[in-house]
Amino acid sequence: MAGSSGPAPSSGQDYKPDAVAHADIVPMVWFSCGLAALAGLLFGMDIGVISGALPFIKQEFHLSTGMEGWIVSSMMVGAAIGAFFAGGISNRFGRRKAMLYSAVLFFFGALVAVVAINTTLLVVARIMLGLAVGVASFTAPLYLSEVAPERIRGTTISFYQLMVTVGILAAFVSNLAFSYIESWRWMFGVLMIPAGMLFLGVLMVPNSPRWLAAHDRFDEARNVLNKLRGSREEIEYEIQEIQESLEQKEQSRGFDMFKENPNFRRSVLLGVSLQIVQQFTGMNAIMYFAPQIFEASGFEGTAAQLWSTVATGLVNVLATFIAIGFVDRLGRKPILYAGFSIMAISMAVLATILGIGPSTSFLQYTAMGALLVFVAGFAMSAGPLIWTLCAEIQPLRGRDFGISASTVANWVGNFAVGQFFPIMLVGIGGTMTFGILAALNLLFIVFTLLLIPETKGISLEKIEKNLMGGKALRDIGA
Ligand code: BGC
Repeated sequence: MAGSSGPAPSSGQDYKPDAVAHADIVPMVWFSCGLAALAGLLFGMDIGVISGALPFIKQEFHLSTGMEGWIVSSMMVGAAIGAFFAGGISNRFGRRKAMLYSAVLFFFGALVAVVAINTTLLVVARIMLGLAVGVASFTAPLYLSEVAPERIRGTTISFYQLMVTVGILAAFVSNLAFSYIESWRWMFGVLMIPAGMLFLGVLMVPNSPRWLAAHDRFDEARNVLNKLRGSREEIEYEIQEIQESLEQKEQSRGFDMFKENPNFRRSVLLGVSLQIVQQFTGMNAIMYFAPQIFEASGFEGTAAQLWSTVATGLVNVLATFIAIGFVDRLGRKPILYAGFSIMAISMAVLATILGIGPSTSFLQYTAMGALLVFVAGFAMSAGPLIWTLCAEIQPLRGRDFGISASTVANWVGNFAVGQFFPIMLVGIGGTMTFGILAALNLLFIVFTLLLIPETKGISLEKIEKNLMGGKALRDIGA
């Protein structure tokens, strides 16, 4: 879930005619947005599938711990590479084609996993799935922010994030279903269904009008807007808005700006750190290894472990609504303080239980409760909010560059967690591993205090002005 999501670049047009502000949303917009959100679902399914498949893959291929980490994290290597090139691909070929390529890669990645006769092929499949998710995680939110009218843009992006969590849950449920026939291959196989739907659906949606205009294809952009907007006034207003934002964008390219402007470097580094922080909360250790953690907590049998994993997926979806409901009321920082505290405490509880041994069912269920509370803590805070902040803190002219840098950081951090968590679990044990995660989450409270700005209700122009004026990062939202 990445890309140029978040609030849209604003234009120089201060006055918005009533007919534009309140125009009806035409069905094609909902269709296009629903389809791009399907990419979010695939992103989530890609993350969710491995936790249920891994125990069966281990049995079939007798994996070493190193290979186990590699099968999990090769997807993230692909995704980091995909996210790195996604900007170029979606700029050169268009957002639509980028999504089409990613649907094809998803489909064949899943197919290779279904027929993989050895671990090398499985790693190849995971890398293909990763490349697909890397491109999609940049392009889909970008496409969403470009086709949705401004007044529903925020909603469509929150919806996209929600779809990621729904995708994780869908994968957990399908893992559970296929666990009864012990088929990890079909756990991957089901990915072909949404991938095929994405492919067919993308063929039916229009190209992004902003991308067309940026490539001097104004007539086509106007035709597309004819399909996406309900009134002539709306179309003319938007064409003018696009022209103005293109003029501003031309003033500087992201990387040049990064080299020249120390203030922009600060916002890029903040975005990168935010994503590393998000990953080092340890959320994906749970997303990828939940059944094993449940096993270590005393839950016997794959079915029981997978049922508990479905519960974590459900909590993840439900708690995301808390963030959506409160982010613009309470602000970003209070929610992050609460989230990191909840995560630190629940990790400490889990570490303690693993330390004394989950010998009674009371201790087992407390461990399970701690895990669910941890997931809720993440989903109501760092999960969605880090993505929002990453989009908000970048100045307009460097936005694509800044967001793609933080998206790559998200996948690199994700890789590190997938790679090292199982090694740490075996090497230093559950108590130490979860103890370290608890300590990191405590540290992130301090990080929030010292470095994260409160951006609630502040215009993007104001944030940009403060950043470029040299204000301390934590004050750029003031
Ligand atoms: C993170 C993913 C994570 C997901 C869990 C996202 O915000 O970037 O790495 O797996 O949340 O819901």
